[in-house]
Formats: sequence, structure tokens, C-alpha cells
Amino acid sequence: MTTLRTGTQTEIEFTVHKLTNITIHDSKFRILDSFFPIFALSKTRIMSKLAVNYLGLNLKNPIIAGSSGLNKNIENLIELEQKGVGAVVLKSLFEEQIKFEYMKQMSQYNDTYAYPEADDYIREYTEMNEMDKYIDFIREAKSKLSIPVIASINCISSSDWVEFATKIEDAGADALELNIFILPSDEKLDAKEIEERYRDIVDAVLKKTKLPLAIKLGYHFTDMARFMTQLSWGDVKGLVLFNRAFSPDIDIDNFKITAGNVFSSEAELSTSLRWVALLSDKVRCDISASTGAHSGEAIIKQILAGATTVQISSVLYKKGFGVVEEMVEFLNQYMDKHGFKTIEDFKGKMSFKESTNPAAYERVQFMKHFAGIE
Ligand SMILES: Cc1cc2nc3c(=O)[nH]c(=O)nc-3n(C[C@H](O)[C@H](O)[C@H](O)COP(=O)(O)O)c2cc1C
Repeated sequence: MTTLRTGTQTEIEFTVHKLTNITIHDSKFRILDSFFPIFALSKTRIMSKLAVNYLGLNLKNPIIAGSSGLNKNIENLIELEQKGVGAVVLKSLFEEQIKFEYMKQMSQYNDTYAYPEADDYIREYTEMNEMDKYIDFIREAKSKLSIPVIASINCISSSDWVEFATKIEDAGADALELNIFILPSDEKLDAKEIEERYRDIVDAVLKKTKLPLAIKLGYHFTDMARFMTQLSWGDVKGLVLFNRAFSPDIDIDNFKITAGNVFSSEAELSTSLRWVALLSDKVRCDISASTGAHSGEAIIKQILAGATTVQISSVLYKKGFGVVEEMVEFLNQYMDKHGFKTIEDFKGKMSFKESTNPAAYERVQFMKHFAGIE
């Protein structure tokens, strides 16, 4: 500590950075340091260079391991923390999965199904069993990790599953991410009804928990900017843009429906990049970018567009967990190259409002001027 107070600003920055990956900034306080040594050490003066505040949580950097099958295994979560992620989103508990499990049990116990009491019992047992496992996992993750643990639920309705939100809070999760995906495939449902359904879910969950709430959405909205902006006016703390839907494919010889690409490609970054840039100046909550971030460069692009954090999933499957270290290193080097002392120094620098060519974000048809190809 003495070394820190007696060194020059550059030495201090270097020493602290080497030791803790923390950079001291705001040199105007230097004079105060000589009079009040305690001041020099105060936490307000020592800020992590990559640190961000997401959903009211302090993250050591903006890279989040997004919800996927990798995040239902405690060893994976521990390794992801060691590799450097700022937070983890657990594998989702599916509202549909709970109901599916319940239906499966119903069909196995056809005799008992005839009795409504038994129906209630099995239903309750199935839901509690799934929930218990999830709750235990949250507790285990919280006891073994020091980074924030965000629980996740995939849902399509505001039915009685919302009670689970309270239990998730009691288990000690730091936040809750709701993945709501209502595909507008029902020709009888108009846009207003669909949007109301989203709001009903959010309102119902907010009544059940005080946990910071993030909503993960797709991009199937006719009035996306209006809908998402309004969603951010309430108590929602973050929007995760976007969920990547399961994509069906067809096996043309066997006449079967198969799964399309399970993992994203780097080329898919542009849809979320566009919308992060278009919305980050408008919404009153954090944005976490999701889909197509496969490199440190992609993380920086999303932050420049205005994202507070960036979630990664496919790249962890494709390249392994070591990619997190590469991303953190790339981010560090980029910030040094441009003289950025904190993430805030460049967050949103290329948003719709801040960019010198905002029209490019709204452009959807090809034109030689923008794409360089006729
Ligand atoms: C195998 C796999 C499982 C996933 N499971 C979930 C899930 O349970 N809940 C969820 O919200 N998103 C889930 N996702 C979506 C990811 O969190 C992410 O939003 C999407 O894959 C796009 O990000 P990426 O391009 O970094 O993969 C899953 C993705 C993959 C590849």
C-alpha cells in the first residue's frame, strides 16, 4: 500500500493494474492524497477499469456467460468465473418444461389421472421437484462463486409459475432474467394482445419479487422501439437483446423436421448491434446484448453501440471457455490503445444519437453508398 501512495500516477496505475487488474483514475485527487492518505486508498478512488454496473449489480467486466446448457453444471460455472466472466445466467427453468413434465406423468399414471386430487398432487409434486432442483442449484452456485448469479425462466404466460420468482429470490439469486418468447404465429392474436401478454408477465413477476429483473426478448415486434422503450419505463432493470430462437429445418429425403443451426455465427451480430444502437439512447434501463458475439471485437462493438453487458453462449461451445480470457485481454488492450480509463468512456459512443452516420442503423435496403455493392 505504501508503494501506491509514494509512486507517481503512472507507477500506481501500473502496479495496481498488475496486481489486481484495477486502474486508478481521476488524477485531480492526487493533491488530496498527500494530505489524506486514507483518501488515496478509498474505494471511490480505486475503480476497476473494466467494471460495469448491470441491473444494479457490480460486475468486474461486461462479459456474461449467457443462459445455456453449459450453465447448469457447477464445474462449468466455476471455470467460467476463473476464466474471467463478470456474471453468469443459469440455464433457464422452462415454464413449458414444467408443464411438459407434468403431462408426461399424467399419461404414465392414467388411472390416477381420473382423480382430480391425484392430479393436483402430481402436478404439485412435479413442479416442486423441478423447482427444488433449481433452487438447490442457485444455492450451490451462490456458495461457490463470487460473481453475480442470475437465475432465468423461459415463459409465455403469467400463470401460477410466477410464485417461483419468490423462491428464486429466497435462494439468494442476484437477479432474475425472464426469457419471454411469444411467437406471433396465431392469426387470431393481434399485436396489442401479444404485447399485453408480455406486460402481464412482467407485472405478475414484479409483484412476486424484489430481485432486479431483466427481460430477454426476440425481435418479432411490429413497433419494437415503442414497445421496448415503454417496457423500460417501469421497474424492469434490463433488456436482453436478443434471444436466439430454435430454428427448424427440413430433412428433404426423410420428410422430417430437424434442428437448424443450434449455434449462432459471427455474422448474426448485426441484428442485435443495430437494435442496441437504436435503443440504447431511448430506454431507461440497461441493455445486455446477446447473439453473435464471438470475439473481443464483437464485445467492444456492442459496448460502443450502448450495451452495458454482452452475453456469450455459442462461442463457449464452439471455442471453449478460454475465449473469455482472450476477450478480456482484447478489451484491456483496446482501452489502452484508445486511452479509455473506464467502460463508461466509450459506452454508447457509436449509438444512434452519438454516431456520425446514424442513418446506417435505420437503413434496411441495400444501397451502394452503404454496402459498397449494387
Ligand atoms: C445450447 C443452447 C441452450 C440455450 N438455452 C437457453 C436457455 O435455457 N435460456 C435462455 O434464455 N437462452 C438459452 N439459449 C440462448 C442463449 O442464451 C443466447 O441468447 C443465444 O444463443 C444467442 O447468443 P449466442 O450467439 O452467444 O449463442 C441457449 C443457447 C444455446 C446455444
